[in-house]
Amino acid sequence: MMRTLTVTSSRHTYPLFMGEGVFNTREFQAALKNPERIWVTHASLLPLLTPIYQALSLRSDLETVLLIPEGESYKTLKTWEDLLAQMLAYRFSRNSILIALGGGVVSDLSGFASACYLRGISYITVPTTLLAMVDASVGGKTGVNHPLGKNLIGAFYPPSGVFIHPQYLKTLPEREWRSGLAEVVKYGFIFDKNFLIQLSGWLPEIEARDPRVLCEILFRCCEIKAQIVAQDERDQGMRMILNFGHTLGHALENAAGYGELLHGEAVSIGMCYALDLSVREGFLSKTEAAFGQALLKKLGLPTEIPPEISRDKIVEALCLDKKHTASGYRLILLEKLGMAREWVCDIDGVFI
Ligand SMILES: NC(=O)c1ccc[n+]([C@@H]2O[C@H](COP(=O)([O-])OP(=O)(O)OC[C@H]3O[C@@H](n4cnc5c(N)ncnc54)[C@H](O)[C@@H]3O)[C@@H](O)[C@H]2O)c1
Ligand SMILES: [Zn+2]
Repeated sequence: MMRTLTVTSSRHTYPLFMGEGVFNTREFQAALKNPERIWVTHASLLPLLTPIYQALSLRSDLETVLLIPEGESYKTLKTWEDLLAQMLAYRFSRNSILIALGGGVVSDLSGFASACYLRGISYITVPTTLLAMVDASVGGKTGVNHPLGKNLIGAFYPPSGVFIHPQYLKTLPEREWRSGLAEVVKYGFIFDKNFLIQLSGWLPEIEARDPRVLCEILFRCCEIKAQIVAQDERDQGMRMILNFGHTLGHALENAAGYGELLHGEAVSIGMCYALDLSVREGFLSKTEAAFGQALLKKLGLPTEIPPEISRDKIVEALCLDKKHTASGYRLILLEKLGMAREWVCDIDGVFI
């Protein structure tokens, strides 16, 4: 079954399609009719192009596929510049279209290259990781990392379409899969208690990556994210709730050394901590926090800070946090399951 959603942004609204038939949609076919099409992906993901080529009767030897190196450490200005240089070498015009196939690294880099190539060309995304499907593909944030921090350079530049084919998740490595599940649970925590309850009833299906249940889950996450960013595209209010678990999460990622703890793993620990804090501040009941923590555990996610990460390193990383303002840390806590609220505190509030 095909599901569709319209994502609103200040630039334009764009469609999101989800299901087995995404490559047969009129919108995908129309985008791919553009003779100046540029594919961007990682070398290891080239086999994932086959179903698309088949659906559109394209010959692989006639397509321009630009490859970017794999891994978060390559989400840099250097890779972005190399990508732009390749596009220029092919003399692509302003009418060209870029198709980003891969996880969040591919879509963030490709989106930012699209924003800047000849002052902006269209692009569409085909997310292939769980994290990219439920998070990076909706909301129009693009960009690269800088030695001083993650995602510090970039643009709000939404794609003209998002095409989610859940079958791609079949080949996703186990750890990447679980890491993405942390963001899935986050949507339940901050926005939809019923979704949390549904998730806890779907554990066997989630374990088996059951396509029908996956579609339900992915779609609900995209709906929630689209609803939040429609209200606050530029992170000035409501969108902040998406940072639930992320203040400590980012610090843990940083303190462990990038790549040691995956993003979702760090966010899972950060969310557990935020649940405890929500109880401590008298917002959330102990039972609700315990329910949330147990769900993360059952999904195979870490819930405690690994002992090898020192407290000093975490505090140091927290001090570098770009969201730290003069008034302190603006943390997201839960009022109750399914409802987030902002809370300002100093560093002892974030982490003790
Ligand atoms: N723009 C946004 O709003 C937003 C939101 C969340 C995350 N992000 C960014 O996304 C990035 C993380 O994305 P990610 O978790 O997708 O990581 P990733 O893009 O690095 O992908 C993880 C790994 O999975 C591999 N892979 C991808 N699809 C696969 C498949 N179907 N089968 C097998 N292997 C596959 C990739 O080659 C890569 O090695 C971060 O840079 C983060 O900042 C952006
Ligand atoms: Zn995240």
